[in-house]
Amino acid sequence: MEALRYLNKYFWKYRYRFILGLLFIFISNVFGLYPPVYIGEVFNIISDALSEKTSSDGTVQSLVKNQLAYYAFLVLAFAACKGLFMFFMRQTIIVMSRMIEYDLKNEIYNHYQRLSISFYKRNKTGDLMNRISEDVSRVRMFLGPAILYTTNLIISISLIIPKMASISPKLTLYALSPLPILVIAIYKVSSVMNVKSEIVQRQLSKLSSISQETFSGIRVIKSYIQEDFAQNQFMDAAEDYKKKNLSLVKVNALFFPLMVLLIGLSTLFTIYIGGMEAIAGHIQVGDIATFVIYVNMLTWPVASLGWVTSIVQRAAASQERINEFMNEQPEIEDQTTGHSNIQGDIEFNKVSFTYPDTGIQALKKISFTLKQGETIGIIGKIGSGKSTLAELLCRINDPDSGTICIGGENIKNLNLNDLRNAMGYVPQESFLFSDSIYNNIAFGDQDCDADAVMNAAKKAGIYSNIKQFKKQFETIIGERGITLSGGQKQRLSIARALIRKPKFMLFDDCLSAVDTETEELILQNIKNQSESKSCIIISHRASSIKHADQIIVLKQGEIIEQGDHNTLMNMDEEYARIFKKQLVESKY
Ligand SMILES: Nc1ncnc2c1ncn2[C@@H]1O[C@H](COP(=O)(O)OP(=O)(O)O)[C@@H](O)[C@H]1O
Ligand SMILES: [Mg+2]
Repeated sequence: MEALRYLNKYFWKYRYRFILGLLFIFISNVFGLYPPVYIGEVFNIISDALSEKTSSDGTVQSLVKNQLAYYAFLVLAFAACKGLFMFFMRQTIIVMSRMIEYDLKNEIYNHYQRLSISFYKRNKTGDLMNRISEDVSRVRMFLGPAILYTTNLIISISLIIPKMASISPKLTLYALSPLPILVIAIYKVSSVMNVKSEIVQRQLSKLSSISQETFSGIRVIKSYIQEDFAQNQFMDAAEDYKKKNLSLVKVNALFFPLMVLLIGLSTLFTIYIGGMEAIAGHIQVGDIATFVIYVNMLTWPVASLGWVTSIVQRAAASQERINEFMNEQPEIEDQTTGHSNIQGDIEFNKVSFTYPDTGIQALKKISFTLKQGETIGIIGKIGSGKSTLAELLCRINDPDSGTICIGGENIKNLNLNDLRNAMGYVPQESFLFSDSIYNNIAFGDQDCDADAVMNAAKKAGIYSNIKQFKKQFETIIGERGITLSGGQKQRLSIARALIRKPKFMLFDDCLSAVDTETEELILQNIKNQSESKSCIIISHRASSIKHADQIIVLKQGEIIEQGDHNTLMNMDEEYARIFKKQLVESKY
């Protein structure tokens, strides 16, 4: 229940709507209070008329008719008013719950975007999605229906029971006695139903992930002729789903008969005890009818109490899960208030970094300086820490010890957005959105024009490829479109980085699937674009970095060689070995 306090700010935001809703619930209940009394009156009139029948001559009959018409009109008018206000109450309370749902979803989504990459490594995507969809909709059930029914219950009880007691306290006691049993029974049944539907839900997501995996891996399945295996796997999961669903349906089927039985019992009690009381002359015949209607009016709200209790429990559990994420703080936060001018030399000073989840020390006391406008090449085996170094520079992670400075200022003290804006970072794994080629390039700079997109494509060496597609820049890529080759993807990612006109270029092995000549062309284009642009080129290919002003060779997180191409060749160690080996390979 504690967890639900988080929602108070939303109640406050929509307080007028909420209070209006409560008022409408009250009014609709007041309108519902009188018709049962009128119906009781009608019974009394008829019973009186029947006992006077012998002495009557027709005048009584027309009088009775008029009275009946009058009461019939009242019942109708009150029912219409009640209905109208019920409409209003749903319009306010349920609409409020939808508005809060919308706000909450946006709040969670915004918070997700602020969180650091490490958060996404710790938590599964499915979990993230569930909390923003499934859990939020459970919370909405609390905000809407649960609040609506609870208020309705409180108001109808506090209006109807005094009214009943004013007619006959004894009959009230008897008529209401089965209700507590009803509440407990319904609470038990809905708890069982919740547990079972939870199980069904889990099986359903298992089923969908099986089919999703099959569809995305369809090429492998077909080429290994494993269709039967996939089919059996799906069938087993579907069979399990069916069994679990049937077990839920059984409990579901019990729900309504149980309710009807208990309501019937109340009615039976009322008529029996009421009949005895009427015979004894303590109450009028019409009062029995009034009571039967009141009991029926109370049954639904009271029955919903059991249902509401389980909704609130589920909402509290869901909100707790949501809060867990909302309380996560981004590890990398902007400390600055104003903008920063990102310019100058990049300086690594004894930078070390260990991945907290694996304990792998990826970088050990790395120091180097990249002068403004110069190019540095970083080379090393897989796992030597090259990508880690790039991520530290973009502040995707922060170093454990040592400092990274740009223009003499520690990057921790620079405006984070400005820093990332200045960095033309092309990550090792290119990620493209299922969208047009144009939009994928323009993603780097939301308000660029078509010329800029074309220019970026030319510089990234992908323009001629795009021109060959039938729809050119409007070609859709990804799941619903064409599949690009690895090299095409890489060059598109580069175009996306270039369009932002960044001050620094940071290429993390993003030309590995491009042939050497194209690579050289692209690097030349980038160098030509601006003389003052500093470049960091990470590559496993010595040929791509041989023109760099400075080359660093990494091995197990340490710098083992440092200098320009000629120096390193003269040293005749690791770099020279890699270069010669790759030179020989490229000849074949
Ligand atoms: N997200 C991560 N969590 C834990 N360990 C990681 C992570 N990323 C990389 N590593 C480890 O850090 C080391 C350096 O990795 P990386 O910088 O990706 O090397 P490179 O880019 O040179 O191939 C490797 O041993 C790798 O296993
Ligand atoms: Mg890497």
